[in-house]
Amino acid sequence: MENHSEAQSETQLSESVALDVLGDWQKSHDCNSLGPSNIGDSVILMGWVQRRRDHGGLIFVDLRDRMGITQVVFDPQQDASAHERAHALRSEFVIAVEGMVRSRPEGMTNPKLQTGGIEVIVRELRILNASATPPFLIEDDLDTSENVRLRYRYLDLRRPSMFRNLILRHRAAQLTRNYFSECGFIEVETPVLTRSTPEGARDYLVPSRVNQGKFFALPQSPQLFKQLLMVAGFERYFQIVKCFRDEDLRADRQPEFTQVDLELSFVREEQIYALIEGWIGLLFRELLGIELALPFAHLPYSEAMDRFGTDRPDLRYELYLVNVTDIVADSDFRVFRQAVERGGIVKAIRVPDGGRLSRKELDDLIEYVKVFGAQGMAWIKIQPDGWQSPVTKFLSEGVQGRLAERMGLQTGDLLLFMADQPKIVHDALANLRVRLGQQLGLVDASRFEFVWVTRFPLLEWDHEEKRYASVHHPFTAPLEEDMDFLESQPERVRSRAYDLVLNGTEIGGGSIRIHRQDIQKRVFGALGIGEEEAVDKFGFLLEALQLGAPPHGGIAFGFDRLIMLLGGLSSIREVIAFPKTQKATCLLSGAPAEPEIRQLLELCVRVEKERRS
Ligand code: AMO
Ligand code: AMP
Repeated sequence: MENHSEAQSETQLSESVALDVLGDWQKSHDCNSLGPSNIGDSVILMGWVQRRRDHGGLIFVDLRDRMGITQVVFDPQQDASAHERAHALRSEFVIAVEGMVRSRPEGMTNPKLQTGGIEVIVRELRILNASATPPFLIEDDLDTSENVRLRYRYLDLRRPSMFRNLILRHRAAQLTRNYFSECGFIEVETPVLTRSTPEGARDYLVPSRVNQGKFFALPQSPQLFKQLLMVAGFERYFQIVKCFRDEDLRADRQPEFTQVDLELSFVREEQIYALIEGWIGLLFRELLGIELALPFAHLPYSEAMDRFGTDRPDLRYELYLVNVTDIVADSDFRVFRQAVERGGIVKAIRVPDGGRLSRKELDDLIEYVKVFGAQGMAWIKIQPDGWQSPVTKFLSEGVQGRLAERMGLQTGDLLLFMADQPKIVHDALANLRVRLGQQLGLVDASRFEFVWVTRFPLLEWDHEEKRYASVHHPFTAPLEEDMDFLESQPERVRSRAYDLVLNGTEIGGGSIRIHRQDIQKRVFGALGIGEEEAVDKFGFLLEALQLGAPPHGGIAFGFDRLIMLLGGLSSIREVIAFPKTQKATCLLSGAPAEPEIRQLLELCVRVEKERRS
């Protein structure tokens, strides 16, 4: 089909003689701007043929550009040659027309189009370029696979919704630049060819030709450089910046993505929260006409885990997790008792009106939680004639009464229980909560619920690496009051890190930083980074911390995620002009590609196709 299309476009192309087809023509208007006040005007429009219709001797073309559509009419009475040539027009031909604006005849107006009251009667047609038959029609309702869209992204981007998304992004970027500039921030570019900046993902490496055997790492974030800018005395830095992370991709993750990144000196958390709330408030006001309720809610990490099982809770619906370990610990139900004996917990979710779920639906939910490592899930339906459940018989009246009270049970409710180690219970119930929210229609898409999640643990145990890892990054300050536990009970130390969560998505994260060398060394120690390694990897930071580093802190936002949520979209690929696939490839350009042997030789790099384990 592609060969056929190419052949077709070649013959059509050869028809247009001149290369400089525009001549002295300039666009006088875009395709969305003409209206009744232009009637009688001579205009020149340029754009793409959306559709051609032949009607009783007249030819109608919907002419489209990035702004909209205008109907243009070819009438043999007006210009026989233009009318003749208009027969050849096909979808996506690029044309220019000169003509006069006139009112559409009675009954022919199109209220769905901004320009639906008028049309342009053509006096001259210039075909600027032909087009092969496109692989899909350029319109918003399309059922083409995403891979085809990405393969022909430049066609996909011609669709009005994609223009809208990227214009939204552009406007948000402009508002952001202006806001932070007005708040005294200076935009500084930081290097892309640099050393590893640990943010928990793998690095993309770039071999150096000049320094053989050495590699640059693309930045996972500008973290170290923005801290150095604080040491340099910039006080307020920001950047809209590309970051690179080699990690498993999802709908809200790309290997290269954009951060709104900032750092401030002489501040504590509260000033950063207020600054960010001002910015987010501005974006919602200017871009969506929504006045957000400020300030945003706060939730300490421990409470977020306790009530939602996750550090990025969606606050648009309830379905809270409730700890019932104490109530059921010594019930006759073996599953609960044994889980508690092994140091586990039992948590329950009350699903209002969930009693109507069928047995099949309950079984599906149980299968779903097993994906997250759960062994099973017990349920109880609170029916008008009593409790219905395979486990009620194991729960004494006393236990039932206390459950009813703690859970606030009402007739018609469904209770779901999980007993296991806290991590599994939280992970499984947090995911279940999101699924129930969607399945039961509890998610109000018009609501925006922001929450600052604060006081994250500083470190968590990495089972694979068998050492502690930073929950945020190694430069995050511990909470003063927990400092004494850094060596003795590292997992007990909380940090001065904070995330901003919107409707269950983490849109930004940051922290107050360590600005003293001695503390930074202690934290490296707790992370199992020896002194030699610390000096090798971060010696420049440790040195800078000794040369007049002010107290400082900052935050970075996933700009793509923010635009996705502002646009009411479900994937960040919708707001990135040329995104990568789930497998981190670019279907349009074919990247990544095999290098030439000559390049590898120059770099002293040898590729072994076999993957070493
Ligand atoms: P963090 O790693 O939390 O913090 O990143 C900040 C925000 O960037 C977004 N994000 C992503 N977006 C798309 N694709 C990805 N692969 C991806 N990874 C992260 C998220 C996240 O909240 N240097 C610190 C910030 C700081 O401490 O100031 C940092 O990068 O929305
Ligand atoms: P079993 O004894 O494994 O047949 O389980 C009896 C009931 O307890 C079933 O309804 C299971 O779904 C449920 N169940 C099993 N394991 C768990 C668990 N870890 N937490 C909660 N309920 C469970």
